Amino acid sequence: MATEIFSKQTTIDLRKKHIGPSCKVFFSHDPIKIVRARGQYMYNEKGEQYLDCINNVAHVGHSHPEVVHAGVKQMELLNTNSRFLHDNLVQYAQRLQATLPEQLSVCYFTNSGSEANDLALRLAWQYTGHKDIITLDNAYHGHLSSLIDISPYKFHQLGQCEQSQHVHVAPSPDIYRGKYREDHADPTTAYADEVKDIIEKAHAKGHKIAAFIAESLQSCGGQVIPPVGYFQKVAQHVRKAGGVFIADEVQVGFGRVGTNFWAFQLQGEDFIPDIVTMGKPIGNGHPMSCVVTTRAVAEGFMSSGMEYFNTFAGNPVSCAIGLAVLDVIEKEDLQGNALRVGRYLTDLLEKLKQRHPLVGDVRGCGLFIGVELVKDRFKRTPATAEAQDVIYRLKDQRVLLSADGPHRNILKFKPPLCFSREDADLAVEKIEHILTDLEKVLGLNTSDTTDPVNAQSKRKESVKENGHGIHSGGISGNRHITKTNKRQRT
Ligand SMILES: Cc1ncc(COP(=O)(O)O)c(C=O)c1O
Repeated sequence: MATEIFSKQTTIDLRKKHIGPSCKVFFSHDPIKIVRARGQYMYNEKGEQYLDCINNVAHVGHSHPEVVHAGVKQMELLNTNSRFLHDNLVQYAQRLQATLPEQLSVCYFTNSGSEANDLALRLAWQYTGHKDIITLDNAYHGHLSSLIDISPYKFHQLGQCEQSQHVHVAPSPDIYRGKYREDHADPTTAYADEVKDIIEKAHAKGHKIAAFIAESLQSCGGQVIPPVGYFQKVAQHVRKAGGVFIADEVQVGFGRVGTNFWAFQLQGEDFIPDIVTMGKPIGNGHPMSCVVTTRAVAEGFMSSGMEYFNTFAGNPVSCAIGLAVLDVIEKEDLQGNALRVGRYLTDLLEKLKQRHPLVGDVRGCGLFIGVELVKDRFKRTPATAEAQDVIYRLKDQRVLLSADGPHRNILKFKPPLCFSREDADLAVEKIEHILTDLEKVLGLNTSDTTDPVNAQSKRKESVKENGHGIHSGGISGNRHITKTNKRQRT
């Protein structure tokens, strides 16, 4: 099969002419044209190889032969909608359920993360009879209107007046840069109390809470790892108010965090959300997604009397692909690989932090890792331009990484789970050279990498106990830093 129809310049020109201008490309000054990919490597039109550190959709590796084969085989036989009985649908639901706590037993299939989250909101509204949603600052939950409303990552770009009166924003439980930091006596309770406060204020205005929604680990919001116990406390407040807890696992589910299959499980066995949404990795690139909930919530949704039908969702091809993805995760022990390689990579990055003052914090679980760049470790001044420089220079060296978070200063690792130690060595070696250059230009003293905190060890204990990665930072610093709004989500 031909890998290229048009020259790269023609592709760029046609894209400008026919594709909506709000659809952005990576590296807009010099976009990449990828024509094929395998495992954790992508290839441009000249056959040059890129190491992929960002494509969490290609969860079990790009173009995995077993996943491709499963789709082709089922497509040759039958593809139709879920109004016909088909074993793939029920078998997939059964397999998915086996990875979840028992109560989460009812599935609704959808086609994208956004559809899954939109449906989760409908379930919550119908089940509770309430209207208001609590979301986290910097959250992104999808591109539908209902989700832009609950995605500060997006609606902050539109100005305050655009925020719906039924949406409340709680501070992101970020103990490095957030309102309560690692030097706070109890950031878990402090962040959960903010939610309680929001509920009380909403009640005072006659509003009622339908749901709290959060990614189990915030991704676009800056690779934030909530302190253990935070979700339990929030769930307590929200359920007391008659609302439900929605865990968005669209980015972080399916074994990425290494120690667990689902990232919400990092909070401990005593935490079970009422609704879980899944997307991206579920089909390894095939458009499918899912909402899983309890029987009680599903019965509540049913009571509206309205049928739920979705033309493409849960079709036999999608389910065959979903089953193949689960098989590959298991057969190739990709969750175990995420844990082992994730720890190895986190260690390398921790060592990088010891040598480079630009690195303010390294945090992660499995193969979901953030490296926060700062110009000053004490003030935690975001090194936004430097982070952009790092990703552009890496791209020139054919390593694909992205920078995100409210200040776009956090390097994000979320590679396919087949990522290897050698890949980790290569990426970190290249980052190190770039940091050395940048520090020279900035006049940063590379021998001064003192970590301005001893609370670091406290955090390490808390996260290591739970088996997940390291999170290391500094003391409270300057939070009044200009926000950059221009972001490109990756
Ligand atoms: C956490 C989260 N939820 C939902 C979505 C929306 O998913 P989709 O783009 O498949 O609609 C995204 C997409 O980036 C996401 O990161």
